[in-house]
Amino acid sequence: MTQTHRAILEFHAHDAEDLVASDRDLVAQAVAAAGRAYAPYSRFQVGAALRLADGRVVSGNNQENASFPAGICAERTALHAAMASDPKGRVEVMAIAVPSGDPGRPVTPCGICRQALVEQEHRQGGAVRLLMTVPGGPVWEVKRCRDLLPLSFDASFLPGQGPEAP
Ligand code: THU
Repeated sequence: MTQTHRAILEFHAHDAEDLVASDRDLVAQAVAAAGRAYAPYSRFQVGAALRLADGRVVSGNNQENASFPAGICAERTALHAAMASDPKGRVEVMAIAVPSGDPGRPVTPCGICRQALVEQEHRQGGAVRLLMTVPGGPVWEVKRCRDLLPLSFDASFLPGQGPEAP
């Protein structure tokens, strides 16, 4: 017997001008962060800005390396910077942005960043909302990053080794 399962992704496509002011501000900070990216190899600048539960905003951008795999994406730069300074911080929302691109298609996080964002959701015991943007285009929103990574690998596969382990 074979059972077929389906994972459904729910995301919302907003007109940028319909965002609440705090989300609009976060998107603007992600765009500004993209402008500070170090991307001499791909020339593809990406910015991320996240808001913590205490209201603080932490931004990041991609940092590339001549040894290509040593580079890091904008999302993880922002996330790890936030957690490095505030390990108990709760990320409520992250915006990601590129300075230019296909206006019909917001930038979306790579697989490794999805994995890192899902880890953060486990770590803080709650969802990270994600706003994906492109200049002149819609803003795509997912209410929780785990929706972007069905059947994801997590600490529950590592008995005795997760964050809750003694
Ligand atoms: N990149 C990001 O920073 N975030 C994404 O969501 C997609 C890709 C970076 C990695 C690399 O520096 C460049 O974009 C091209 O892949």
